[in-house]
Amino acid sequence: MIRLLILLGLLWPASTSAEVAVLGLDDETVEAILSHGSWPPEPVRDPSNRVSGDPAAIRLGAALFDDTRLSTDQRFACSSCHRPDYGFAEPKARSEGRTLLTRNTPSLWNVGGQRWFGWDGGNDNLWAQSRRPILAPDEMASDAGHVARLIRQDAGLAACYRAAFGRAAAEVPADDVLVDVAKALATWQETLVSPPTPFDRFRDALAAGELDSAAVYPEAARRGAALFVGRARCAFCHVGPRFSSGEFHDVGMPYFLERGVVDPGRHGGLAALKASQLTRLGPWSDDAGGVTGFATRYVRPRHADFGAFRVPSLRGVAETAPYMHAGSLTTLAEVIEHYNDPPLDRLHTDGERVIRPLGLTDREKADLLAFLRSLSPRQPSPPPPVPCGGG
Ligand code: HEC
Ligand code: HEC
Repeated sequence: MIRLLILLGLLWPASTSAEVAVLGLDDETVEAILSHGSWPPEPVRDPSNRVSGDPAAIRLGAALFDDTRLSTDQRFACSSCHRPDYGFAEPKARSEGRTLLTRNTPSLWNVGGQRWFGWDGGNDNLWAQSRRPILAPDEMASDAGHVARLIRQDAGLAACYRAAFGRAAAEVPADDVLVDVAKALATWQETLVSPPTPFDRFRDALAAGELDSAAVYPEAARRGAALFVGRARCAFCHVGPRFSSGEFHDVGMPYFLERGVVDPGRHGGLAALKASQLTRLGPWSDDAGGVTGFATRYVRPRHADFGAFRVPSLRGVAETAPYMHAGSLTTLAEVIEHYNDPPLDRLHTDGERVIRPLGLTDREKADLLAFLRSLSPRQPSPPPPVPCGGG
């Protein structure tokens, strides 16, 4: 049947929409679905990080990501919280460092291509975001002297550092070694690009007009995709190949973390960004005059930023429960319930008009869930990192 329609399509090009309607999707829906690809994107090179893409720096970053010696008491490596077996996130609502932290550990898949980093966008580049936990008193609680000593004294790390940066760590001030370490960590994280998913195969088949390949994608997921880009309005924010606009919104998560404690979200993130020396515009950037600092120069706080958080990517989302900035929703089904019946009294008066009750039926909720699950690759596990010599 589908072959016949494709044949008709060859003879009569205007029949494309009729063919696609076979899969239950109209032209507008197909166009919206196509805009969520293609995947994977071009490899990321960050001009503000001079070792971005450099193989020696990637090796150093891979070794350090797993190294508990970065923290003063050897309790935490990056991978203690960003666990490779949980999509580089963590199966806990709020992360536990030396104290209970205020936020959920985000996945690091595809982190390289982001414009803002952290749930609140407190950093505009990956190396500054990677230095943050090393110094944070309730995470690794380290300092530049400790990190520089580790790199200088471990023969394997020292050799990797020299190969990456073209100079010996012993000849460089500790503060510079710390930023270099963060840049190596960033470079390795830029390689964490998630593989294509069942959704991507569906999307590419639609783009190529290969309808029998597209028909392999389960019908429920197909209906879920149509809802996602259509009536459920998810793609208003979860848009493009990363399923994120990269911007900040309030979707009505609980305001108080505990009695009297509020996370200001983007509002606090912008204050931190404006005060930071480690932005794309600052003295530690390798591209301080470059165009990639444009957004940082011109972004201004607004009242609506209070309680807004970055739109997370949904690639691999099935692997990274629990959800939202403080992990307050346990399953994807709960997330769907939340959007279906959002707490309107919680949302700002000047807030998100797009967040409105959806009135989804049980079947529609199941369809949306099938679609969200299809955003995970079948084999999400990353390749094992290559160690740094004697480290
Ligand atoms: C104690 C747990 C913990 C440790 C250790 C930790 N992180 Fe994180 N990480 C978090 C949490 C929680 C956040 C969210 C922070 C925020 O929104 O401000 C985060 C956020 C990030 C982000 C931002 C991701 C995004 O999507 O914007 C990056 C990048 C990151 N961490 C890298 C690292 C690196 C590199 C290390 C090691 C040097 C590390 N983390 C160590 C818990 C941890
Ligand atoms: C107005 C923008 C907007 C719309 C519309 C929207 N989202 Fe979101 N989404 C966000 C933001 C912002 C967050 C993070 C909120 C937070 O943590 O406070 C989020 C979080 C999520 C998460 C959790 C991801 C994670 O890693 O924690 C899922 C899943 C999700 N959204 C799915 C959907 C679905 C499905 C729809 C449609 C029914 C939808 N979103 C509509 C902005 C939006």
